[in-house]
Amino acid sequence: MRPSGRQIPLEKLPRIDFDFAAFTKWRDRKKSLVVEIGCGVGFHPIAWAKENPTQQILAIERTTEKFLKFTGRLKNHRELKNIWSAHADAAVILPQLITSPEVSEYFFLYPNPEPKAANRRLGRSPLLRFIFSTLAPGGRLSVATNIESYAKELLSSAEQMGFANCEMAALAPTATPRSHFEKKYLSRGETCWNLQIYR
Ligand SMILES: C[S@@+](CC[C@H](N)C(=O)[O-])C[C@H]1O[C@@H](n2cnc3c(N)ncnc32)[C@H](O)[C@@H]1O
Repeated sequence: MRPSGRQIPLEKLPRIDFDFAAFTKWRDRKKSLVVEIGCGVGFHPIAWAKENPTQQILAIERTTEKFLKFTGRLKNHRELKNIWSAHADAAVILPQLITSPEVSEYFFLYPNPEPKAANRRLGRSPLLRFIFSTLAPGGRLSVATNIESYAKELLSSAEQMGFANCEMAALAPTATPRSHFEKKYLSRGETCWNLQIYR
């Protein structure tokens, strides 16, 4: 299924500093590809890469300070060959890298809530359409948020785009945190919502 509506205009995307040739060489098409958007300082994708040695993960972060902490941390994990980092806006880099329904899972843990800019929120953005159009059959989008209304808006957008196979559940307060933000919210006693939207 290719969701209709506002798409990312490929010809208008800005140029980015990314070694496309090296990425293509790294990418093993026999292995499934997972993409993490907004990985922050990289706690989750590094743990994921350790736990899933037979798959590959591309981890994207647009904020320079966080990206540098992430790549600094990656230097302590040179043994991990199944993780690739990208310093970019996912909406800019992904359409230049992913052209077919080949992503087995997208993670977006604690996206910026953008309370005043509805069009920039994931549920309203062309990025969401792009994510759905590049999910492999049986693939899923996993999103976490501490804002229940944000989670519901995203579910409603997914359903409007024809993705009705969705699950929304609160993490157990005692869950082991997967990322820095999850650790912060759980330690404050906030509810962390986990959404899974299947293709
Ligand atoms: C609230 S932080 C969460 C970081 C991390 N996922 C965690 O849970 O600790 C959201 C991060 O997503 C990044 N981000 C948001 N939208 C992005 C996009 N379109 N492309 C790349 N990074 C993005 C922000 O720069 C920020 O670092």
